[in-house]
Amino acid sequence: MQLRGVALEEGKDSVPLVRPYQSRVLPLRVLQFCLLFLFLGLGFSLVSIYMVRYFGIQTVVSASQATFQPCYDVPSTLESWIKPPSNLLHAMNDTELFWRASFLPRIKNYPFRRTPKIAFMFLTKGPLPFAPLWERFFKGHEELYSIYVHSLPSYNADFPSSSVFYKREIPSQVAEWGMMSMCDAERRLLANALLDFSNEWFVLLSESCIPLHNFSIVYRYISRSRYSFMGSFDEPGPYGRGRYNGNMEPEVKLSQWRKGAQWFEVNRKLAVNIVEDVTYYPKFKEFCRPACYVDEHYFPTMLTIQSPHLLANRTLTWVDWSRGGAHPATFGKADITEEFFKKIFEGETCIYNNQPSSVCFLFARKFAPNALDSLLGIASKIFGF
Ligand SMILES: *[C@@H]1O[C@H](CO)[C@@H](O)[C@H](O)[C@H]1NC(C)=O
Ligand SMILES: *[C@@H]1O[C@H](CO)[C@@H](O)[C@H](O)[C@H]1NC(C)=O
Ligand SMILES: *[C@@H]1O[C@H](CO)[C@@H](O)[C@H](O)[C@H]1NC(C)=O
Repeated sequence: MQLRGVALEEGKDSVPLVRPYQSRVLPLRVLQFCLLFLFLGLGFSLVSIYMVRYFGIQTVVSASQATFQPCYDVPSTLESWIKPPSNLLHAMNDTELFWRASFLPRIKNYPFRRTPKIAFMFLTKGPLPFAPLWERFFKGHEELYSIYVHSLPSYNADFPSSSVFYKREIPSQVAEWGMMSMCDAERRLLANALLDFSNEWFVLLSESCIPLHNFSIVYRYISRSRYSFMGSFDEPGPYGRGRYNGNMEPEVKLSQWRKGAQWFEVNRKLAVNIVEDVTYYPKFKEFCRPACYVDEHYFPTMLTIQSPHLLANRTLTWVDWSRGGAHPATFGKADITEEFFKKIFEGETCIYNNQPSSVCFLFARKFAPNALDSLLGIASKIFGF
């Protein structure tokens, strides 16, 4: 008891008063104190071993170990912060995921060699009929892309382990065309892709999309663009401004209302803006319901208000609306000819980095599954892969 008393007093202000007397006794006391500790420690270990052996309280021991485990799991190297999640099927819900995905470094220069990648995000109902075409497109560029697939929760993909789509599915929820659940799915794709720091550009695609050029051209076109390719225009008439609801003021004014095709390409900054948004989301959720199709208005309007100078205001995905109606034309086996694609390529003129360009579209839709073989047949000649 005496020992402990001294040890405690060591730390107190009154201690210097008793120093002269203590200084000679102290080394012995320290030794005694250490020995006592040693014996206590040994005693404790023996008792625990005994308890574990004879009373089977391993569960208590392991439970307490589990409680302390995070102490040893704290990332100690930069590597552990920047490596992408090894399993895409995490257990976070959207609130948790979006929060996690909105982490943004404020220092612009990366203190490691970072090869910026394009995240290809496939928003699908079920199977990916053009997977063989995409496999060929991606081949040999493993450093420069990552893939994410959001399909209906009821669908179980069975890609072979050799496929680029193997284990690239993210936790999904039902998404309905024209409803907020569709935008939720797109935000979910963005959020999952944001978890990988090397993803710099984010492309949204559907199962009926195909690539129109080889990977080198697509990568160069997107990575060298000063703008993100979000279709965004002000359309007078019932299908544009006609869908605006005055209750969206003051967040969204009629003059700010935009329309654009759902299939976009955005950079990392805009991707974070979309995932973190809590200002426009409730307005669109409440006041843009069919016949206002929210997936055609939410992102174009929001980004036009926040970052108009970052938008090319056009999409990279070619589609044919010329037949009219609510859905664009779908092309099947019989349509796939060299002339068909020549017509698409030759009809193009657009602005790229403020200059006229003859390459305007990198992807095209919609194609029916039976077009696959014909597409594979002409791909090397027409698309260059
Ligand atoms: C996610 O989980 C948190 C914590 O349990 C909860 O507060 C939040 O409402 C959940 N979000 C969703 C979208 O379910
Ligand atoms: C896109 O539109 C916005 C306004 O809606 C404009 O400020 C911006 O300059 C446009 N982008 C380009 C590349 O012209
Ligand atoms: C990609 O396509 C372009 C133009 O068609 C061609 O010049 C280039 O060699 C192709 N690149 C590869 C890696 O095949």
